[in-house]
Amino acid sequence: MSKVIVTGGTGYIGSHVAVDLINKGFEVIIIDDLSNSEISVLDGIEKITGTKPFFEKIDLCDKEATRIVFEKYSDIQGAIHFAASKAVGESVEQPIKYYKNNLQSLLNMIELMIEYKIDNFIFSSSCTVYGQPDILPVTEESPIKIAESPYGNTKQIGEEILTDQTKAPGNQMKFVCLRYFNPIGAHPTALIGEKPSGIPANLIPYITKTVKGELEQLTVFGDDYDTRDGTPIRDYIHVCDISSAHVLAFERLLNNANTENLEIYNLGSGEGHTVLEIINAFESSTGEKVNYKIGPRRAGDVIATYANNDKAKTQLGWKLKYTLQDMTRSAWAWEQKMSQAN
Ligand code: UFG
Repeated sequence: MSKVIVTGGTGYIGSHVAVDLINKGFEVIIIDDLSNSEISVLDGIEKITGTKPFFEKIDLCDKEATRIVFEKYSDIQGAIHFAASKAVGESVEQPIKYYKNNLQSLLNMIELMIEYKIDNFIFSSSCTVYGQPDILPVTEESPIKIAESPYGNTKQIGEEILTDQTKAPGNQMKFVCLRYFNPIGAHPTALIGEKPSGIPANLIPYITKTVKGELEQLTVFGDDYDTRDGTPIRDYIHVCDISSAHVLAFERLLNNANTENLEIYNLGSGEGHTVLEIINAFESSTGEKVNYKIGPRRAGDVIATYANNDKAKTQLGWKLKYTLQDMTRSAWAWEQKMSQAN
């Protein structure tokens, strides 16, 4: 059976992708240092799929520790690389941590893959590389803007590292960079989902924890933007739709169907929603009320961004399955399940 490494596989998106890969018949080797996730995620994956993935608790910045995985397992077909620090605000406060964690781990993985002749690599990138786009929706050809944060810069530099590698003489590696818009929601079983540590920075976990009563009130960061209701527009996409695109992209690499050694795809729903529209969708899909107030703008927020996802649809054969209501409803189901578990 084909084995695939999923770094950061106990994290939010990684765990959903691990489930999809197992359901497709892959053997999944998760590498995670559990710095921002919990070992119990493996139980969730096992409950959904009936299979426990292989697990290696390793910090990818430690190359020799990571090498053990490449020595231990045969028939590794490729890697999907999620492991990274991802809090935008924290990255401004601790830039070195972000450059080290996100780039050293990437470099170690690539070096080991070259050494062990494993060619297929998928990189978690972000729509943050587009900054505030001049033209909406954003295509993969839209210009890359100067990064707003060290976190965003690590994604840009990561893509550049991979691009340069494709140009190196004798390169055998093939890369897909997936630029995520705003993944939200949870698996329909509510057995895995997003579990931020500390006070969440992102909208959906802030909403669910406010409704649950763990947080007092959501602050909407500004309602004086030039948008239809004054709040910023984002492209929210169900984490399971994000996940299915990874499997398709990985199969494309395995089947040598890629036309370039580095391909880039936007993973967004193609629709933009304002913050107030998300609150409304949450309320109508769950029947719960969100206690919120309007506050000042948050530094660094772009006004509006959403994806043109045609390329992923046509080249990967990606089909989106979930609605905005599915996203908010599943996020709430997961939040409730988490409190039952505690
Ligand atoms: N928002 C609030 N209140 C909150 C949290 C968020 O009003 O308590 C608003 C934000 O101002 C923004 C929207 O909700 O308008 C979405 O904010 P998120 O923090 O959920 O998501 P972002 O779009 O800011 O950030 C996401 C990822 C980043 C990534 C970025 C790329 O979390 O990792 O998209 O644009 F870099």
